[in-house]
Amino acid sequence: MPRYSVHKLRELKAAGRKFAMITAYDYAGARLVEQAGAQIILVGDSLGSVVLGYDSTVPVTMDDMVHHTKAVVRGTEKAIVVADMPFMSYQANADEAMRNAGRLLQEAGATAVKLEGGSHVVGLVRRMVECGIPVMGHLGLTPQSVNQFGGHKVQGKTPAAAAKLLNDARALEEAGAFAVVLETIPAPLARMVTERLSIPTIGIGAGPGCDGQVQVFHDMLGIYDDQRALRHAKRYAVLGAQIRDAVRAYIAEVEDGSFPTEEHSFPMDESTLGELAHAF
Ligand code: KIV
Repeated sequence: MPRYSVHKLRELKAAGRKFAMITAYDYAGARLVEQAGAQIILVGDSLGSVVLGYDSTVPVTMDDMVHHTKAVVRGTEKAIVVADMPFMSYQANADEAMRNAGRLLQEAGATAVKLEGGSHVVGLVRRMVECGIPVMGHLGLTPQSVNQFGGHKVQGKTPAAAAKLLNDARALEEAGAFAVVLETIPAPLARMVTERLSIPTIGIGAGPGCDGQVQVFHDMLGIYDDQRALRHAKRYAVLGAQIRDAVRAYIAEVEDGSFPTEEHSFPMDESTLGELAHAF
């Protein structure tokens, strides 16, 4: 069965059906997410903070993205796998950007790439699409520019900023992007963008008016206790605490001798054992 095509999302929008995207970064996570019904998976450069322990997405490299995207592709059969283009993999020059986007499809097996920004990346998006690389846009609080924004602040609040975001979204659509992520912008603005575009919008911290939503795997599953102070993330489980409890129970059982039991051990033939005991 071939993977879903990126056009599926536009069909869902046309039919008025909402959809959920979720991040995954490895084989196990990707398998679970697809088994749960996700049709689109993002190998986000949030990898940097939730998996690699950096304090932002800025240090993530192309090699990191290729490595993790390969694992996600191996863990999925049908899902659309979108791979993030990391910081400075597309900003320096267009030829390098094309080669890097090509790597994510050719070497890592992604279905599509995602890159951040509006008018300044539109030419690049057009060229990628013309060359057969499906592109997802990303507007609003684009994490690779966190140093420029001076922190994780809601974007698009002033009339000028909101108008720029609307224009950028239109320009991405015209350049051939198949969807656009809207991150941390006011809900009414996200609704307006969604109504004005024929391609789907995928929101994170952008309210219920988007066509789709995206959540970060570790945030929605409660892997970290502090929840990284994210208002837009909803916890559907508290796996961090469950994992710790399970590991604690294992350590305690090893220490008190109650694990392993016969059930987890392999027997040996009595006569072989007898011969051994005799010989040594
Ligand atoms: O890197 C990521 O996980 C993302 C989502 C938050 C949209 O870009």
